[in-house]
Amino acid sequence: MTDTLTPVLTAHWDEPDAFTLDGYRRGGGWQALPKALAMHPDEVIAVVKSSGLRGRGGAGFPTGVKWSLMPQGDGKPHYLAVNADESEPGTCKDVPIMMANPHVLIEGSAIAAYAVRASHVFIYVRGEVLHVVRRLRHAVQEAYEAGYLGRDVLGSGFDVEVIVHPGAGAYICGEETAMLDSLEGRRGLPRNKPPFPAQAGVYSLPTNVNNVESIASVPSIIVNGADWFAGMGTEKSKGYGLFSLSGHVANPGQFEAPLGITLRELLDLAGGVRAGHRLKFWTPGGSSVPMLTDAHLDVPLDFESVLTAGSQLGTRALQIFDETTCVVRAVLRWTEFYQHESCGKCTPCREGTFWMVRVLDRLEHGNGTEEDLDKLLDICDNILGRAFCALGDGATSPVTSGIQYFRDEFMQHQKEGGCPFDPEASTAWSTS
Ligand SMILES: Cc1cc2nc3c(=O)[nH]c(=O)nc-3n(C[C@H](O)[C@H](O)[C@H](O)COP(=O)(O)O)c2cc1C
Ligand code: SF4
Repeated sequence: MTDTLTPVLTAHWDEPDAFTLDGYRRGGGWQALPKALAMHPDEVIAVVKSSGLRGRGGAGFPTGVKWSLMPQGDGKPHYLAVNADESEPGTCKDVPIMMANPHVLIEGSAIAAYAVRASHVFIYVRGEVLHVVRRLRHAVQEAYEAGYLGRDVLGSGFDVEVIVHPGAGAYICGEETAMLDSLEGRRGLPRNKPPFPAQAGVYSLPTNVNNVESIASVPSIIVNGADWFAGMGTEKSKGYGLFSLSGHVANPGQFEAPLGITLRELLDLAGGVRAGHRLKFWTPGGSSVPMLTDAHLDVPLDFESVLTAGSQLGTRALQIFDETTCVVRAVLRWTEFYQHESCGKCTPCREGTFWMVRVLDRLEHGNGTEEDLDKLLDICDNILGRAFCALGDGATSPVTSGIQYFRDEFMQHQKEGGCPFDPEASTAWSTS
């Protein structure tokens, strides 16, 4: 059994009051903010830069570099928008962070706001998770009462307001520019880039957008130093992160480990694929990244290695599917999600996802043909790189990778006049 876990964010999750101010302080919380406030904001940015922290929201953009792109001395109000929309299928790390330890996100937000010279923080939380909104609001209140937020924080002269904003319940609102529209009270639709949020974000003012886990990683970096963080992970993918295992796995859950751990090691820690079954396919980072197979068990889960293997690290949402799962059905379900969530602004994604669902549906029911597979790939070709935002690109991933690895299974449906898999088998759980 491997023992490579690095519990930092998750270190105190099993304590019953970990989510309270006292619980967080007992575990060493709220010590990073005074340390950061004693530094110049540029120094804080330099520490985060040299830690090598890369955005945990999917794309892996270096967090310190992003902070340094915020304009300096422009005399305008600046904002920090924390992306807590978390709607990518399989992704389930930010909600547990906010439920188990909301203060680490609030402390990280105060530090990030100080670094990018923002006096207002919006935490944009997925609308459906009302319990998270309540928990965050309570923690924000505690932080105000303790003097960590508000005017003249800890006597430093720094002012910061934190607003917990429930989202509008749409996947597209997690796309950073759609989130900005939604924050302003409009329907969440992606904006043109450039201008990037750092130039024109909320209310057309400089805004830094970061994922929950990115921001929550900051306090430990400030307390322990950049070298401590950079000492974990791989050469270009530094530090630790949450790996969320779900699906056909004996003990699903969150595993906090250095980047570069493999699925084989994670499965080892999670008790393996469910008893009596074997791995068929899996996603390394949610449904928007190409699926991988049992041939990829030893791929180091860092940004570079997963890309070389033909996928992306994404949000480290590892959805595990065993041999009882029909890949055509899985791809159809995911594509139905993208069709439903497509905002409709651009034609390739709006029309493409609609037609892909129709073609996949007939393939799943045994009425498809070999030409349908080419048609699907052609539609993907017309979406990828031609859609207005990355939702469209993501919608092509399950389809192209599903056909790449399981072309025969798509055709088996035609030969057998329907789906050869028993849908009950993939949902039935047995311990034998
Ligand atoms: C359709 C779509 C949904 C997204 N949803 C989220 C989300 O829920 N949370 C998130 O942090 N990033 C999400 N992103 C990525 C954001 O646009 C952005 O890259 C991220 O918030 C940047 O934070 P980071 O640099 O800290 O990773 C989404 C992107 C797309 C295209
Ligand atoms: S790619 Fe899809 S979600 Fe993005 S703008 Fe176009 S229609 Fe909307």
